[in-house]
Order: sequence, then structure tokens, then C-alpha cells
Amino acid sequence: MRFLDLPLLSPRRVPVIGTGAMPLSDPRHGPDPMDRDTAIAVLHHAFDAGLTLVDTADIYAPDAQRFGHNEELVGEAVRTWSGGRDGIVVVTKIGITRTVGADGDVWARDGSLDHLLPAAEASVARLGFEPDAILLHRVNREQQPFAHTVENLLQVRERGIVTRVGIGNVHLDEVETAWDVSGGTIAAIENERSPRYRDDAEIVGWAGERGVAYLAWSPLGQDHASRLGELYPEFAVVAAELAASLGHDVTAQQVALAWLSASGSTLVPIPGFTRAATVDSSAAAADLVLSPGHLARLDASPAGPGSMYPDDED
Ligand SMILES: NC(=O)c1ccc[n+]([C@@H]2O[C@H](COP(=O)([O-])OP(=O)(O)OC[C@H]3O[C@@H](n4cnc5c(N)ncnc54)[C@H](OP(=O)(O)O)[C@@H]3O)[C@@H](O)[C@H]2O)c1
Repeated sequence: MRFLDLPLLSPRRVPVIGTGAMPLSDPRHGPDPMDRDTAIAVLHHAFDAGLTLVDTADIYAPDAQRFGHNEELVGEAVRTWSGGRDGIVVVTKIGITRTVGADGDVWARDGSLDHLLPAAEASVARLGFEPDAILLHRVNREQQPFAHTVENLLQVRERGIVTRVGIGNVHLDEVETAWDVSGGTIAAIENERSPRYRDDAEIVGWAGERGVAYLAWSPLGQDHASRLGELYPEFAVVAAELAASLGHDVTAQQVALAWLSASGSTLVPIPGFTRAATVDSSAAAADLVLSPGHLARLDASPAGPGSMYPDDED
């Protein structure tokens, strides 16, 4: 594995490809949810393979009754990993609410101090240690000016709950606001980026210039991951060319991770997985070197139909 030095995010070394833990709490990807021991074994396998940045969130759970499920899982996996807590960069997210409603789970966004402070404390309690950073998951743009939300988020830090805070699902003007209000101390930006969704080039460049980690979520297009080469054929073509020259299999998904990784000096894709095989494949992508010609062709290839969550794009 190759590592980046991103001190705003963590004093620990940050791998160029990380681990998105969400699918391990998602009933779509296995029994309801995946058996706990199997899920922890997948995380340990990812850490052993060098994918030692793990992304979780308080809302990642099979349902609202099991709010915090994924943080508990990640906490246990990190605490029990043979490499120890110091070997892992842990990022969690707060600022979305998920409650039990009459017709299923009810989702909302809350950037108030009254929500963020207890949410951050609860995340730390569920993990069983202080994460490297807590990020604002999404912005409630109707609630208050974004600068006010950032001030509330900074209170999580000022009150000693966590050392570093960051933001997610943000526009460039919000990134700049957060940077100014925080005095240039934002730990990370977690936004969507993948062959499907490529709207964020300016923010990727902005983050690289300032040494701010850009965590690229759903880098393989989530439920469409297995069809990546079919949906974005240039990635499959480059994979075939690399396989021929390297003499071993290369997949379109690996090319996508290598392309993302190369697209920003602080960009870390955080693929999710539920199996050792996809962990190993993702870890191997860190060794793929794409030529400037490959990168230019992939950049020029058509993107997909937009965000994975179009309803949340505001
Ligand atoms: N901040 C946000 O708003 C936000 C939103 C969504 C997601 N996220 C974060 O981003 C992480 C990743 O997103 P995601 O899980 O939604 O989608 P994703 O990473 O785009 O796709 C996940 C799927 O990719 C497959 N996969 C992983 N590595 C592969 C490889 N090398 N080759 C082929 N298939 C591979 C996995 O298959 P298997 O299941 O078979 O292993 C899994 O089904 C999440 O886990 C979460 O931590 C954040």
C-alpha cells in the first residue's frame, strides 16, 4: 500500500485507498444485516490489506432501531485488530437524523448545536475511542447560514469531544466558508466522486492545494459496481490494455480506483465491500500506474447520469 501524509486529518499515515464500512450494515448486501463476526472479519481483512482508513457514520444501520450499528461494528473491528488502534484512521459522520416513523424510517438533517454535540458524544461512545475526525454528513441548507453550522461543528472540537472536524456533501462556496470560519483547519471533505459522478473537479483541486483530504464516496457507483466496465466502457478498455502489458488480470473497477486516486493529490477513494475478494482487488488497485494517456482518455470518457442520490443533491 502507498500512503499519504495528511496531518489535517490524522497524525497517522493515510492509505491511498480506504474502506467504506456502510455495506456491512446494509441488509441489501447480505443477511439482515450481515453476520457480525463475518463483517468484522471483512474489516480485519481490509486493514491487513493496507486499506487502513475506515469511513463510518452514525446513521449507517439496517434500520432506525439499530441506529449506530455500523459505528459499533467499526469500533469493535478497530479495537480487536492485530495492528492496534494506532494503525487505523477512523472517520465518522453526524448531522443526519434517522428515526422510526409510522411508514418506515424518517430522515432529516440537523446542524444545530443541540443535535451535533450529543451526536458526536454518542459516536465516540459507540466507537469506544476518539475517531481521527468527525465530519458533518450533509448540510441542512434551510436551517441556518452554513457559517453558523460550521461554528456549531467547531464547538464539537472546542468542547474536546474530538480533535478534528470536517464536512461532506458540500459545494465549493461551502468548502471556502468552512475553511475561513475554521481558520484553515478543516480535516476532510467527503463528497461523491466516481466514473458516474464527476462534478467536483474544482473541489478536488482546492483540497489538493491546501492538503485537505478529499474522501470520494461510492467510488464504484454502489449497486452498479459490478457493471462498471459495461456502463463506462473506457475503464474496461484501459483495464484490458493494462492486463495485456502487465501479464495479470486488471478490472475496470481497479482502473476506476486508480484513476480516482490519481485525480487529486489528497484524494482517497473509500470503496465499500462485503467480501475478501473485493477487498483484495481494491487493495491491488493501489499498485496500478496509469499513464498520462490513460488518464486523459478516462477523463474524456462520458460520465453517468448524475449522483447516486439525486434527491439529496441540493
Ligand atoms: N458521505 C456520504 O454521503 C456517503 C454516501 C454513500 C457512501 N458513503 C461512504 O462511501 C463508501 C463507499 O460507497 P458504497 O459502499 O455506497 O459504494 P461503492 O464503494 O461505490 O460500491 C460498493 C460495492 O462495490 C463492490 N466492490 C468494492 N470493491 C470492488 C472491486 N475492487 N471490484 C469490484 N467490486 C467492488 C462491493 O461489492 P461486494 O459487496 O461484493 O464486496 C460493493 O457492493 C460507503 O461504504 C460509505 O462509507 C458516504
